[in-house]
Amino acid sequence: MGQFQFSYELFDSIELLEDQDAALLRAAIATTSVAYAPYSGFHVGAVAVLENGALVSGTNQENASYPVGICAERVLLGNVAMQYPGQKIKSMAISYRTKKRPSDQPISPCGMCRQALVEFEFRTAAPIRLILGGETGQVMIIDSAKLLLPFTFSPHELGTD
Ligand code: THU
Repeated sequence: MGQFQFSYELFDSIELLEDQDAALLRAAIATTSVAYAPYSGFHVGAVAVLENGALVSGTNQENASYPVGICAERVLLGNVAMQYPGQKIKSMAISYRTKKRPSDQPISPCGMCRQALVEFEFRTAAPIRLILGGETGQVMIIDSAKLLLPFTFSPHELGTD
């Protein structure tokens, strides 16, 4: 019998986080203001701190041709890869805002972003610590994006490495 399980940290509010983590999550909340989400009305912001201390952000960028839209997390990964090639991401905070419901609980990355996050971990040989929270409410901290994607399809499967 196989089994997959993982542990994560859960905090009752942003105030209970370490200062650096709270600041990163607050930055993610703030950056939702530059999301482009006129179709879903769901504004996502992500901010990462790199090993060199730089902060890099991403927001979702939607499109009138709906599937063309891209999530905040993948915009962020592209920004890191271009602005700081080879740099590892230490932590990434993700938050959101929408008029349709309160932003009072964490969201976690979609399946496509999980795949992209895991590949970024692989290529930089470093786990990405995820800090997930709304504007209020509980905050989850997950030590590596890989934990969210068991049985990942990885470059090994292609036999090209
Ligand atoms: N979205 C993100 O940017 N990140 C997530 O983790 C979940 C979903 C975006 C995609 C789309 O623009 C909107 O949120 C609604 O799905």
